[in-house]
Amino acid sequence: MMTPMALEENVARGEGLATLAARLCRKSVDKHHDAYGDVAWDAPENRLDPADPRWIVGADRGLGRTRWYRDLAPEVQARLGLHLIVCAMETGWQFENVLSRGLLELAFEQPDPWVRRYAYHELIEEAQHTLMFQEFVRRSGLPAPGLPVRQRRLAGRVVSRARAFPELFFVFVLGGEDPIDHAQRTVLAGERALHPLVRRIMQIHVTEEARHLAFARAYLRERAPRLGTRERTALCLLAPVVLGQMTRLMLGVPAFVAERYRIPATVLEEVRGDPAERAHLSGSLDKVRSLLSELGLIPTWTRPVWRGLGVLGSQA
Ligand SMILES: [Fe+2]
Ligand SMILES: [Fe+2]
Repeated sequence: MMTPMALEENVARGEGLATLAARLCRKSVDKHHDAYGDVAWDAPENRLDPADPRWIVGADRGLGRTRWYRDLAPEVQARLGLHLIVCAMETGWQFENVLSRGLLELAFEQPDPWVRRYAYHELIEEAQHTLMFQEFVRRSGLPAPGLPVRQRRLAGRVVSRARAFPELFFVFVLGGEDPIDHAQRTVLAGERALHPLVRRIMQIHVTEEARHLAFARAYLRERAPRLGTRERTALCLLAPVVLGQMTRLMLGVPAFVAERYRIPATVLEEVRGDPAERAHLSGSLDKVRSLLSELGLIPTWTRPVWRGLGVLGSQA
């Protein structure tokens, strides 16, 4: 598996967007997955049991660090842990849906045939991810509301930005893909027992996301420096807002779960204010933040915005 960093190194060596896109096209042909052909959904070991202790959130992170969660009965801890994954997968497929529509917009007026072709490879892969995520949600039998109403309304605007302001669209893409990729790689590298179905879905996802992340970064690296003053200023201001919203949406405790399990407001506040949790959220943006910084898109005057939204990281 080629990591985003390995792909990035080639870009850093002077490989342009079109050349990278051509290489990614070959990789997508050589290695791609089918949501049903490559996942053994009906294997007995892949059955989803809400009482399975492997769903319990680890004591090292988020809700798992709170006394309230640890005092719950083990089967409730497990069900809640599974429900968090199910909600993340529901939000995940909706994000992939918005992303796929944006890629279609981008491809429609894309003059470079390699960039256009890669946009299609990526959206085909995102469609397979959508199928995997929604199949997992369906099999869990647990309800999941997906994106909150406000974000659903914003989704249409994100799609239209893909053609009119692709640089902003790719910040949105990185805001969704980077935190999830970071979270999945951390879980896969960890020592906790992982349900085999989740492991398989994550393995497929991180393999293909490495290409998507490399493409989004290369797009920004090549095109952002060509922006005029007005668009550049808009990108500088909107980037921390988009990244802050996307990270919380992808990694936070959804309001639906908080209500259903009657998680006290003080516990949610404890999770949000937990330095380890804040470091995790912020760390998941390290790569995109350093890219934007390298491109001069985090000027000093925007730092209070980044800091206020809790996405400035160790530079805070
Ligand atoms: Fe994906
Ligand atoms: Fe992706």
